[in-house]
Amino acid sequence: MMLTTAKLPQLTMVVAGWLGGLFTCLLFFQYNSRTCAPQYARPVQPIPTFQPDINKSVNSSNPISTTSGQTEEEKPILLLWFWPENYRWNFQDCKTIYNIDGCHLTDDRNLYNQADAVLVFHKAIKHDLSNLPPSPRPPFQRWIWLHVESPTNTPRIPGVENLFNLTLSYRRDADISVRYPLTVSKKPNEDFVIPNKDKLLCWFVSNVAPSTGIGTRMKYYNELKKYITVSIFGSMSGKRMRDEDYFPTMSTCKFYLAFENSIHKDYITEKLNGPLAAGTVPVVLGPPRQNYEDFSPGDSFIHIDDFPNAEALANYLLKLDKDDEAYKRYFNWRKHVRATPHLTYWNQEFTSYICHACEYIGRHKEYKAAHNIYKWWFS
Ligand SMILES: *[C@@H]1O[C@H](CO)[C@@H](O)[C@H](O)[C@H]1NC(C)=O
Ligand SMILES: *[C@@H]1O[C@H](CO)[C@@H](O)[C@H](O)[C@H]1NC(C)=O
Ligand SMILES: *[C@@H]1O[C@H](CO)[C@@H](O)[C@H](O)[C@H]1NC(C)=O
Repeated sequence: MMLTTAKLPQLTMVVAGWLGGLFTCLLFFQYNSRTCAPQYARPVQPIPTFQPDINKSVNSSNPISTTSGQTEEEKPILLLWFWPENYRWNFQDCKTIYNIDGCHLTDDRNLYNQADAVLVFHKAIKHDLSNLPPSPRPPFQRWIWLHVESPTNTPRIPGVENLFNLTLSYRRDADISVRYPLTVSKKPNEDFVIPNKDKLLCWFVSNVAPSTGIGTRMKYYNELKKYITVSIFGSMSGKRMRDEDYFPTMSTCKFYLAFENSIHKDYITEKLNGPLAAGTVPVVLGPPRQNYEDFSPGDSFIHIDDFPNAEALANYLLKLDKDDEAYKRYFNWRKHVRATPHLTYWNQEFTSYICHACEYIGRHKEYKAAHNIYKWWFS
């Protein structure tokens, strides 16, 4: 990521005009969370795909699906066994940001014997099974496998495949599927204005490690840049981008290269959500268009597969640059659908996943035997 020279407060004011207080609040969340708090009385992100069917799992005298009226001691305990990548944050953020309060979230391993669920970050096991929580586990305890990268970037650690009762990931078929959902509103959004643009095509990129599967996107980029200027931000440009500059910079680009590092089903990350939330048109490289359309309207993005080659894509973007009416059509979907900015601070990368695990554990008590995780994940 990198630093832009533009003044943050100025940009913020511009941006605040179209995303409102919510965005400004997120932008400054790290510095100013107290001022933000009242705005988070309701969830900023609706709870993703695992909204339970209340009538199926509970009855009114046994309200396991609701958190209201529960005391702290009655809440199920979710033990975070490792801090993913050692990025630490305040567990209160689940309440403040997502209005999630259904479990007692802790990193205190002394609570292991009481923990209703234990969340284990796959990468942190590091090929050493002694890093896992102890066995035998309490009979009521569920273990949750947390992994947010694609299969290409998943170390196959032998011995962990049959331990986990629940999976937590971006995949729709994970038990706890955490994504960046767009939300529909019946009432048209009349307030959306395309932000001012001073760059044609941008790319924020820091990962240039070939081992992570980026060959496809680098090859495409190297071809594309022969025909169109790409403004590069992030460490590939030689300068880190500040976390708080992410949305203000994104909004000033007409198009953004939302190129995933590797191509897998459902592996559509914040690289898509960023431009959608900022008012920028994503140009996507990842799974087929059909898979993108599972999550985002077909006219909200441009897919590289829509073109025979990079030159044709470049020509199309250059044509749209000269044709405001055609460009504006990429914003029609926003009348009834809205993207929500995601957290951009480096230490918040796992916050949403962990909070939604808490939400899930607060609502779901079902027994579930472990199944071979790799058979599922690598299929
Ligand atoms: C749940 O049950 C109540 C009472 O029987 C009913 O009024 C309500 O519509 C049901 N909700 C759903 C989502 O089925
Ligand atoms: C709801 O649960 C309670 C406690 O488990 C049980 O006594 C009661 O009969 C249940 N009510 C219904 C309507 O199923
Ligand atoms: C979790 O999975 C393990 C392994 O299949 C099983 O022995 C255990 O009973 C499960 N626990 C719960 C609470 O689902």
